[in-house]
Amino acid sequence: MYRDPVESLEPLHHRQAAIRTLRVGMIGIGTVGSGTFRVLARNRADIAARAGRSIELVMVAARNLERAAGIVGDSVALTADAMHVATHPDVDVVVEVAGGTGPARDWVLAAIAHGKHVVTANKALLAVHGAEIFAAAREKGVIVAYEGAVAVSIPIIKALREGLAANRIEWVAGIINGTTNFILSKMRDEGLDFAAALAQAQALGYAEADPSFDIEGIDAAHKLTLLAANAFGMPLRFADAQVEGITALQGVDVACAEQLGYRIKLLGVARRQAAGVELRVQPVLVPAAHLMAQVNGSMNAVMVKSDAAGLTMYYGAGAGSEQTASAVIADLVDVARLDGVHAAQHVPHLGVHAHATNALAVLPRAAVYTSHYLRVPVHALDQIQAIAAGLAERKVPVHQVALAAERPGVGPQVLVLTGPVEQGALDLAVHALQARAEVAGPVSTLRVESLEG
Ligand code: HSE
Repeated sequence: MYRDPVESLEPLHHRQAAIRTLRVGMIGIGTVGSGTFRVLARNRADIAARAGRSIELVMVAARNLERAAGIVGDSVALTADAMHVATHPDVDVVVEVAGGTGPARDWVLAAIAHGKHVVTANKALLAVHGAEIFAAAREKGVIVAYEGAVAVSIPIIKALREGLAANRIEWVAGIINGTTNFILSKMRDEGLDFAAALAQAQALGYAEADPSFDIEGIDAAHKLTLLAANAFGMPLRFADAQVEGITALQGVDVACAEQLGYRIKLLGVARRQAAGVELRVQPVLVPAAHLMAQVNGSMNAVMVKSDAAGLTMYYGAGAGSEQTASAVIADLVDVARLDGVHAAQHVPHLGVHAHATNALAVLPRAAVYTSHYLRVPVHALDQIQAIAAGLAERKVPVHQVALAAERPGVGPQVLVLTGPVEQGALDLAVHALQARAEVAGPVSTLRVESLEG
């Protein structure tokens, strides 16, 4: 059969390029970097078989060279200069696992400018500087892959980009911070106090360098920003997310939620509405019997509601050294397979419309529409009906009213579950409730998520 000589040469050229070792330069050799080194070495042959070529760590930048040498031995060139790795001609792909948003941005942009692919687990970097980084990568036709940045061990970015590529996604909701889920589980199951539970999470390497990113919900919001961009093809809108952590959460609410048949979880929710997208991280009540309520310790889970596949759920370790390495190396395998393939053939890393400026707006807090839990301190047990009536007067649908079980040192409390209502309307109703003579202290409110279709 006749074959055009140019066409027949082209695949051969690609084949030759494809069998060359993929040379990796890594910036950072802390929790994630050391795990990546170990897993790459341990599973070398399997990884090469899946990638179609060897993947070799050739260079590492580290702040502490002595410590780094203790991890990688003398098999890998070491340098204290991260920019050296980012720009070195012997490096095909730069793995950035140092963290932070300052120098890391410069290294990643330099790597891209030098035509290198980038793999990173740095959610803060991408949530804050992603627009600039992905634009630069598009310009250069290189890949910026970040599976390890979101719910580390769970291939949720791949699921959204590829597995669910046929679908219109309606919402994504998940426990996407291992540290806070670990703290909440330890406090509930073992009665540990907040500080002790956080100290354990830090000792286990789950927490961010600055743990306020975990406990204030910022890390989860970084990840949610990336999930929403993939799910809805919208730009990265971290600055517009509503973010609330677990530091203000009160033990009495954890107990009252249990009494009503719910558990409190720090959830990230991105939901498409007619007027825009809800983008929010906060502690919420989820039904105790729901799978999401069974996600404990540092585990993560993400649910996706899409039009064709329906509800799907993904579960796995949400923090940890080799758990994150698993995702980083999966990205390296993708890079190994796609290096040399025209960029237009890649599945886009941020959804098809990530560069669009006309994409969905983030809804303001007042427009978020959910059910709510209220805990209302009252002077006397017989004031329960007055509280329900006060809410109904303000057009808040009241689905359930109960008295909280007695607790030492805690006065009478009325518990309310509402039906779906806009946050703005609820805020006004709570404000009015707060002024009533029956109310003996600050009203506590939390959202309730059914996580149903
Ligand atoms: N500090 C993060 C967490 C690490 O606890 O989820 C993984 O992203």
